[in-house]
Amino acid sequence: MESKRILTGDRPTGRMHIGHYFGSLKNRVEMQDEYETYIEIADVQALTDNFNNPEKVRKNVREVAIDYLSVGIDPEKSTIFIQSMIPEIAELTVFYSNLVTISRLERNPTVKTEIAQKKDLFGESVTYGFLGYPVSQAADITAFKGEIVPAGEDQEPLVEQCREIVRKFNSIYGEVLKEPKIHLSKQKRIKGLDGNEKMGKSLGNAIYLSDTPEEITKKVMSAVTDPNRIKKDDLGNPDICMVAYYHNLFTDKEDLKAVCEECKGGKRGCVACKKQLAQNIIDKLAPIREKRKYYEERPELVDKILIEGTNKARKIAKQTMREVKEAMELNYFE
Ligand code: TRP
Repeated sequence: MESKRILTGDRPTGRMHIGHYFGSLKNRVEMQDEYETYIEIADVQALTDNFNNPEKVRKNVREVAIDYLSVGIDPEKSTIFIQSMIPEIAELTVFYSNLVTISRLERNPTVKTEIAQKKDLFGESVTYGFLGYPVSQAADITAFKGEIVPAGEDQEPLVEQCREIVRKFNSIYGEVLKEPKIHLSKQKRIKGLDGNEKMGKSLGNAIYLSDTPEEITKKVMSAVTDPNRIKKDDLGNPDICMVAYYHNLFTDKEDLKAVCEECKGGKRGCVACKKQLAQNIIDKLAPIREKRKYYEERPELVDKILIEGTNKARKIAKQTMREVKEAMELNYFE
């Protein structure tokens, strides 16, 4: 039996953090054994809200590739490629733009939220490119006939929009495209060290996969704990403590139970608790740091993986394009 194809990706706008790890990377590493996996470094999409900062996007293409490789995305199993090097995606975007209305794009909840957050960049009127990025993302997915899109909840409206475009395309031009399904990760979005619902670069509350042990310790020591607990023998409430929240992710069950019991009984201070957590995070991320070092020392190997991945991906996109052009009667001299 042929396995289903996965298509997923990230905007290269920064290094990846533990929120990405639990929210998507871990899932991809597990799924790559079972599915034919394609992972896109979405530089064109990153430019939709970073068009004024091309150096940032360029630099992060390699950072993200190294993040992938260091968490265990295996280039033998997963094809990693660069979006801008697959011109068929841009071509499909143009064709699909006829199949979606402006008001439908304006109603996309993810895009709506993002536009509201990016007032500094867009002012009162959003760019055509940003408003239309769901169309380009539909092209990302369908160029490879991706059937499964492992992603977080925020990507649901984008996959839904892609499904609508596919249905419209197939009903007009014939059954060429595949309707993808989202595969949500079990782990919900991870909160920041400060208790913010979102972990993010701009918020300064993230632990990066590339952080050194010293950086991890420093960040954990600044995490927000139960505000009512001032002295060590005050009774603590782990339910409102970010350190306890992270212990849940990084500490094994037995230790976790002890941590919470001692906190509730006022028997363990926050400093000791944070030190233990920092150590657990450092240990858990050690293999990732080691692999990162390996790839950082071999930039030509990273380039080779990206070039080979992109070449392989391009072949598939070209085949899809042939079928699309035939269906759309754009195959003039064949
Ligand atoms: N929009 C996704 C994000 O912001 C990145 C992305 C681009 C993507 N193309 C994709 C995700 C295709 C899934 C499938 O994280």
